[in-house]
Amino acid sequence: MNKEKVLVTSALPYANGPIHLGHLSGAYLPADIYVRYKRLKGDDIIYICGSDEHGVPITISADKEKVSPNVIIDRYHEKNKAAFEKFGMSFDIYSRTSLPIHHKTAQEFFKKFHENGLLVEKKSMHFYDNKANMFLPDRYVEGTCPRCGYEEARSDECEKCGSLYEPQELLNPKSKISGDTPELKETSHWYFPLGKYQKFLEDYIQEMNSNYGWKDNVLQYCKGWFKDGLKDRAVTRDLDWGIKVPLPNSEGKVIYVWFEAVLGYISATKIFSENLNKPDLWKDYWQGKDTKYIAFIGKDNVVFHTIIFPAMLQAWNENSETKFILPQNVPANEFLNFEGKKFSKSRGWGIDVDEFLELFPADPLRYTLASNLPENKDTDFYWKEFQAKNNNELADILGNFINRTFIFAGKHFNNEVPSRNELSEIDNKMLNDLQVYPRKIAELFENYKIKDAVLEMMNLTRNANKYFNDSEPWVTVKKDKSICGTTINICLQTIYTLAEIFSPVIPFSSKKIFSMLNSEPTEWLSIGINNLKVGHKLNKSEILFKKIEDDVIQVQLDKLPSSEIVKEKIHEISFEDFSKIKLKIAKIVSAESIKKSNKLLKLKVELKNETRQIIAGIAQSYSPEELINKKVVIVSNLKPAKLFGELSEGMILAVENNTGKLNVLEVDENIAIGTDVR
Ligand code: MF3
Ligand code: ZN
Repeated sequence: MNKEKVLVTSALPYANGPIHLGHLSGAYLPADIYVRYKRLKGDDIIYICGSDEHGVPITISADKEKVSPNVIIDRYHEKNKAAFEKFGMSFDIYSRTSLPIHHKTAQEFFKKFHENGLLVEKKSMHFYDNKANMFLPDRYVEGTCPRCGYEEARSDECEKCGSLYEPQELLNPKSKISGDTPELKETSHWYFPLGKYQKFLEDYIQEMNSNYGWKDNVLQYCKGWFKDGLKDRAVTRDLDWGIKVPLPNSEGKVIYVWFEAVLGYISATKIFSENLNKPDLWKDYWQGKDTKYIAFIGKDNVVFHTIIFPAMLQAWNENSETKFILPQNVPANEFLNFEGKKFSKSRGWGIDVDEFLELFPADPLRYTLASNLPENKDTDFYWKEFQAKNNNELADILGNFINRTFIFAGKHFNNEVPSRNELSEIDNKMLNDLQVYPRKIAELFENYKIKDAVLEMMNLTRNANKYFNDSEPWVTVKKDKSICGTTINICLQTIYTLAEIFSPVIPFSSKKIFSMLNSEPTEWLSIGINNLKVGHKLNKSEILFKKIEDDVIQVQLDKLPSSEIVKEKIHEISFEDFSKIKLKIAKIVSAESIKKSNKLLKLKVELKNETRQIIAGIAQSYSPEELINKKVVIVSNLKPAKLFGELSEGMILAVENNTGKLNVLEVDENIAIGTDVR
């Protein structure tokens, strides 16, 4: 098969906070698995990433902590770099956009566009904070939406109703920095003519899609943008944090962060080349005709990678001798949620990578995330599922198979690979699997179906365990050792195959398995049935995956802020459905405990012209006496039921407080019994 030249990038994360599991599932883990597979396949591939260190997200974090942006980026660049490494990310470089080479690269692009008359200067009104002496970025202004009245709208956009408007229209604007009312002041910015490239971009995406099959979700996003029509975009900002606009008289202006961050991929590749003492090497990747460029991102970054960045590269190409390649594919993922809800730092919802890796090794996390990637829809991380993936799959299936085989090889074959003799039907089937699966998995990887590839890996492992069981080596070892030898030979070849095909997903464990096998990975397509020679000496085995106990998981679940715990999914009902429930006010006239139950109380309640008996589960929250004469809300048309042999003709409404105590809903003295609650 032909060797490919491949350039892979993952979105440059903002260096303003830690990396959490959601980030990993979106843009990082799938790319790392793909890259590791490609390296084993023998392709010429480089993997580029780094910190995005400019833009308002950084300055906001800096303001919050009252430190300079430099403190923030230095801290999180180092932290994130280390966390990625511990997680097993195999970037060829993890660069940063604050480096001089990046500033120079971004300014070069800007100048090129300016010199060729692409950039147009336009004047517009922006909010200015007189106290802070600065123009306010959109996110620094808050006011009332002129369309819907939402009070936390931004200067030109309302999150609530989605409308866009001119800053002049925002009502009651306030600066988030000083709290003062900002003044509207004229400023001028440079605009990139994105609209001019719409036709080009539509053709480009269509061609890439028809040749390489882009993901539906990505195509849908693009369609939406094209339908609205691409507009000129301001590519400068009035800010002092960022890359200076390289033109005279542009004091206080920087290049818009998105306009330079995407170029960070290029500048990072330059640094990668310099580190290798081959300063021109980056051109082989970015400007090589035969290179394919794959950009891994999360869904919120689609427009920047399928529209803005390609337009910038094309604008360069049209005005230069040197030609950049454009992304061949942008396999953007949806989002990973955490226990049913969006990750949120401020609400304490979720877990950061470094925190996680203090508690558990990287491989079980990689495996859990990889087998549940949000490739086509949002997915969730659940602690229980993590435990199950580790215990029931990695430990009980993969680990167990390897362990059993090594025990046999040690006990009966002197830790050497036994010979393969006459083959039975199941032997042949297993050997066939060893040839089929690596190819099947390669095909899935080539199409960015990482999740499916991982599922196939575990399928092969299940087959292997079944093969071991069906072969009954514990029987054959006594009856005919040559048959047992055949089984163990095939199991060892299988372990070799598993070690290699799993290595992109669980690289740390794979390395251990290879060391147990006293062997090394081969090129992907040479994985097969004879990777271990007869008589090959094995090393000592070790336990690969430790089980995770329930109480260890419970500790993590208990840490979740209880106010955020997701209740059951709410299903909408119609008004008609609701009006079927007859809620009425009733007065409790007697209450007594029920013998065999410490939860239930037997109540008599009065409605208009009747008395009913209701069995209520509130004994742990109220003594019987406390309840007498309370006017409460009951469901009056609930089908009667028997509880502990006692008839219950209705239900009392109650709510639980944060200590678990129930509070029955009460109404005023002067509301008549029997009144309908609506
Ligand atoms: N920093 C951005 C984010 O975290 C991603 C930037 S991707 C780049 O959403 F290509 F622009 F660098
Ligand atoms: Zn609004």
